[in-house]
Amino acid sequence: MTRKITASLYMTLDGRGAFPKYPGFDRETTEPNDMWREMWLNRFDDVTTVIMGRRSFLGHRRVWTEKARKPSDAQYQIDYSRWLDRVEKICLSTRLKSPGWENSRIMKGDLSRIVAKLKREKGGNIIAEGGPRLILEFLRRGLADDYWLIVQPVVYGKGPQYWGTMKMQATLKLLSAKTMEDGELLLHYETVRGFRA
Ligand SMILES: NC(=O)c1ccc[n+]([C@@H]2O[C@H](COP(=O)([O-])OP(=O)(O)OC[C@H]3O[C@@H](n4cnc5c(N)ncnc54)[C@H](OP(=O)(O)O)[C@@H]3O)[C@@H](O)[C@H]2O)c1
Repeated sequence: MTRKITASLYMTLDGRGAFPKYPGFDRETTEPNDMWREMWLNRFDDVTTVIMGRRSFLGHRRVWTEKARKPSDAQYQIDYSRWLDRVEKICLSTRLKSPGWENSRIMKGDLSRIVAKLKREKGGNIIAEGGPRLILEFLRRGLADDYWLIVQPVVYGKGPQYWGTMKMQATLKLLSAKTMEDGELLLHYETVRGFRA
């Protein structure tokens, strides 16, 4: 079975990879909402590898390990942390010497080669979880099979940008679009291969 590669991203309306405040952004729930289900829970069974750039990896290591959870956290957040501890994490870095997180390894070099190597290895599906510059590289090189995007209802004007100059357009097919309670859009696209613009 080919390992499917999914890019997951939270994006402002102006394409920034940030987590801005807006009405309802911090709504506390004991149950996961649709966004959380689609982005994470629904993938726990078939995803075994998560790829992150160094900054995103270190950010997740600080915030999302089970050790970092508080007793007041919702069960679904604890479940996510356990899952993230358990899956294989690929940290892309030329500078980091040791990942300092269980089930993690550091890789570096040409992204297409790294992805090809991972695809040859045994395992389930793969999530590319940022940061924005890494997702742009996946898009430029057509490496992701599909994209799950959460579009937040904010024009933020700062923070790392997802999109940039392309040699060729990337063409995507919309598979689903849902409006969330607080105005976010949850969009699922797949990569259209072989289309000549
Ligand atoms: N909104 C979201 O969904 C989301 C998701 C994740 C992160 N973020 C935010 O995005 C920001 C970080 O994103 P970012 O784009 O600035 O950084 P990033 O992608 O997380 O990390 C960039 C680093 O990754 C390493 N890297 C990338 N490709 C590599 C390769 N092929 N070989 C070796 N190393 C490679 C390099 O590290 P070295 O310098 O060690 O070589 C590079 O400096 C944070 O503010 C975070 O909060 C947002």
